[in-house]
Amino acid sequence: MGTCTNGVMKQAILLTGGAGYVGSHTVAALLEDPVKSEQYDIVVIDNLVNAYRAPGQKKPEPLRIIEELTGKSVIFYDVNIADGAKLQEVFDKHSVHCVIHFAALKAVGESVEKPLEYYQNNITGTCTLLDTMRKNGVYNLIFSSSCTVYGDPERLPLDESHATGRGLSSPYARTKHYCETICEDLAVSDKKWSIISLRYFNPVGAHASGRIGEDPAGIPNNLMPYIAQVAVGRLPSLSVFGGDYPTPDGSGVRDYIHVADLAAGHARALALLPRPGFTAVNLGTGNGYSVLQMIAAFEKASGRKIPYKIVGRRAGDIAANYADVSLSHKLLGWSAKKTLDDMCADTWRWQSNNPNGFKKSS
Ligand SMILES: NC(=O)c1ccc[n+]([C@@H]2O[C@H](COP(=O)([O-])OP(=O)(O)OC[C@H]3O[C@@H](n4cnc5c(N)ncnc54)[C@H](O)[C@@H]3O)[C@@H](O)[C@H]2O)c1
Repeated sequence: MGTCTNGVMKQAILLTGGAGYVGSHTVAALLEDPVKSEQYDIVVIDNLVNAYRAPGQKKPEPLRIIEELTGKSVIFYDVNIADGAKLQEVFDKHSVHCVIHFAALKAVGESVEKPLEYYQNNITGTCTLLDTMRKNGVYNLIFSSSCTVYGDPERLPLDESHATGRGLSSPYARTKHYCETICEDLAVSDKKWSIISLRYFNPVGAHASGRIGEDPAGIPNNLMPYIAQVAVGRLPSLSVFGGDYPTPDGSGVRDYIHVADLAAGHARALALLPRPGFTAVNLGTGNGYSVLQMIAAFEKASGRKIPYKIVGRRAGDIAANYADVSLSHKLLGWSAKKTLDDMCADTWRWQSNNPNGFKKSS
């Protein structure tokens, strides 16, 4: 049940998938902000398909730790966004100001093997969420989108007017594109909708405390957690996919953004609502770093050698992408502050303090 100040129920920020990597860092940023944490109840729904709750605990580990760090509480519901009845129970208990919608399956390779699961979870789940929002008169939405919606870039840097939805390489990328399309259609159909779609580039890094960070199940799909697990000795070596791209050193180039900067970007987007219509905004740094540059930066931060081998290109990978960040500056008054060294140092602090992620005993 929502909390009250002077007999009035506080409004809530509802974060779907708020126990995951980006969501939990956004929860931390909202609670660390004295104004927002006073103004709003922070409510998370997550079905724990990709988040860990320790035996005997009520809340997933990232949220339990954030409560310890901030001394403030998060309201948690173990709910699947595709379960309309359970979602309605949450909306009955809280006066929701805005939904920040992180919940999704996100492994590109897995999405090729299990497209139906991805379409069901990410698209049907989003439709159920949007329908529940509409039934409850909640029209403010921040959606977790991705630079994958741009496909293979026609030009760089990628600005928001670049075509989306063309030549997408995976069902995962298509779920993000279709969800954006659904949001755009909704915003046309009813002027009450205020939807900001944040197109993340490559989130990396961890909370400055070193107590929460990215904790992928199984072998990591993304570069940074892979490098970190090699550095800590959990994996033997890294395969660099492609050494013959038309980039300065032949390895792929991406725009890596610190997850704390990303979280701050959500807080700025929140301050912009309501902003009627559908607005897509890139969240990146505007700088591209190659895989080999990332390895060198991580070796410096960790003081460990990262054994790696250059192998063939991976199907669906592109040579380079990085963001045009002018719209995020103009509209959100936001820009990324953290450097590549910060990204590596914070990832290493998290990984070296927690070699097995949140599961201490494994
Ligand atoms: N991390 C990235 O590289 C990246 C890049 C671009 C976009 N995104 C998007 O950002 C969002 C968050 O990504 P992340 O890296 O934090 O992923 P994550 O897997 O760490 O977090 C997602 C959370 O959503 C939950 N979830 C999934 N399906 C659910 C459902 N049906 N009902 C309730 N909860 C559900 C999971 O348990 C998990 O805790 C996702 O939408 C993802 O597609 C991520």
